[in-house]
Amino acid sequence: MMKPGCSPLLLSGHLLLCLTAISVLATPDVPAGQRPGCLAKCGNVDIPFPFGVGDHCALNPNFTFNCNKTMDGSMKLFKWNLEVTEISVPDGKAWVIAPTISWRCYYYASTRSMVKSDGWLNVTNSPFWISEVDNKIIVIGCHTLAYMRSFSYVIGCYSTCSNGNLKNGICSGAGCCQADVPEGVRYYSGNFDEAYNTTSKDRPCSYMVLMQKDAFRLNTSYVDSTVFYEAYNGSVPVVLNWEIQQLTCEVARQNMSSYACMSSNSECLNSTNEQGYRCRCSHGYQGNPYIKDGCTDIDECHENDNPCGLEICQNTLGNYNCSCRLGYYKTDGVCVPNPSRFRPMPVIGKSLSSVSTEVTSLVEN
Ligand SMILES: *[C@@H]1O[C@H](CO)[C@@H](O)[C@H](O)[C@H]1NC(C)=O
Ligand SMILES: *[C@@H]1O[C@H](CO)[C@@H](O)[C@H](O)[C@H]1NC(C)=O
Ligand SMILES: *[C@@H]1O[C@H](CO)[C@@H](O)[C@H](O)[C@H]1NC(C)=O
Ligand SMILES: *[C@@H]1O[C@H](CO)[C@@H](O)[C@H](O)[C@H]1NC(C)=O
Ligand SMILES: *[C@@H]1O[C@H](CO)[C@@H](O)[C@H](O)[C@H]1NC(C)=O
Ligand SMILES: *[C@@H]1O[C@H](CO)[C@@H](O)[C@H](O)[C@H]1NC(C)=O
Ligand SMILES: *[C@@H]1O[C@H](CO)[C@@H](O)[C@H](O)[C@H]1NC(C)=O
Ligand SMILES: *[C@@H]1O[C@H](CO)[C@@H](O)[C@H](O)[C@H]1NC(C)=O
Ligand SMILES: *[C@@H]1O[C@H](CO)[C@@H](O)[C@H](O)[C@H]1NC(C)=O
Repeated sequence: MMKPGCSPLLLSGHLLLCLTAISVLATPDVPAGQRPGCLAKCGNVDIPFPFGVGDHCALNPNFTFNCNKTMDGSMKLFKWNLEVTEISVPDGKAWVIAPTISWRCYYYASTRSMVKSDGWLNVTNSPFWISEVDNKIIVIGCHTLAYMRSFSYVIGCYSTCSNGNLKNGICSGAGCCQADVPEGVRYYSGNFDEAYNTTSKDRPCSYMVLMQKDAFRLNTSYVDSTVFYEAYNGSVPVVLNWEIQQLTCEVARQNMSSYACMSSNSECLNSTNEQGYRCRCSHGYQGNPYIKDGCTDIDECHENDNPCGLEICQNTLGNYNCSCRLGYYKTDGVCVPNPSRFRPMPVIGKSLSSVSTEVTSLVEN
């Protein structure tokens, strides 16, 4: 069981070196997050399986993306007409740029006419839906009532400027209001209530948008200009959730040839608001659960700070063990100094896995 270089009796200086060697040996190579021969990145966006560019690279056509050269010469990842800027496997999320800004502007000076456009997003019949946690519906304007239409919802809010207290960064009724996105929505269209039509000379435009809430900060100039639309050029960041299939974990597992949680040390998760599932690496593992052996052990001892504090950290599969430094022993889970009349001398137990706790026992001289 002992690795070469680790003798059963260790002197103080060698102990740490040997434990370090063990944890290095225990760290496997991180496998790629894609099928062999498939694009790992498009521009600077990572493409983890189940997503892929080209049919044989994705789990099924629902997860197929395009990697296209854009006008400015850069490569960008697309799903339909949506640019994808980030994909998270652990969180089951994808960040896209979507044309969800609705607007209406009254051109008083020129044509004295109302021009309008309704923003929308349609991810029906796909593994995606609009995250109700990460996005908000935001309405900008004075005396504006706007709402979203989805299959069974009408959600909106009323924004007014009558109290006049517009403040940068504050969207709570004055010139700006916001509403929560309902759960499980796959279709969005932003509409204005025509009964509230008071766009004026000084306040020509009203907006409604569904977007990532962290990406929005009210600038009071949004209320009396077209700065908001121009700042985003009509398309804004939106966060989507995704799942593998509309089956619960229990049902999905009944067909192992289509069950997507391929990796050892992975587990199945029911989607929060949907009858669907996705996968994640088990606690203590990281990587891609959708790929064979995609989940690899996390070496906690070499992440940021030593999780054992001043104690000795030993990485184990899926976990780690803390043991006392030389000259200390563990009592009630706490390392305390050895009584001074003992000369510290660690004893290593018979098997490798017992190194860490046995290290703390002492040999009386
Ligand atoms: C990307 O390229 C593919 C293949 O040429 C094309 O079908 C698709 O419409 C393009 N998508 C975008 C958003 O340009
Ligand atoms: C949304 O997309 C689905 C599937 O692509 C399509 O069947 C449906 O008509 C679209 N809905 C609207 C309102 O455009
Ligand atoms: C794509 O996703 C939709 C919605 O989850 C599902 O109904 C459809 O069967 C999926 N297609 C494939 C090929 O899995
Ligand atoms: C809103 O008011 C303007 C100016 O009174 C008018 O030209 C426009 O047609 C109205 N729009 C709607 C949708 O009622
Ligand atoms: C608001 O927008 C204007 C015009 O784009 C800009 O000059 C100003 O710095 C912005 N203010 C804040 C607080 O972001
Ligand atoms: C804004 O969007 C339009 C069309 O959607 C595009 O032609 C134009 O290049 C974009 N402008 C910028 C600065 O990105
Ligand atoms: C299991 O999944 C495979 C691959 O998707 C499919 O061909 C097969 O029909 C499924 N079996 C059952 C019993 O649903
Ligand atoms: C998934 O959801 C089903 C149905 O709601 C439930 O019976 C099951 O226990 C859930 N499984 C997990 C792993 O959460
Ligand atoms: C820590 O080490 C002890 C003794 O070697 C062992 O019994 C225990 O399972 C280890 N804990 C973990 C989480 O590996």
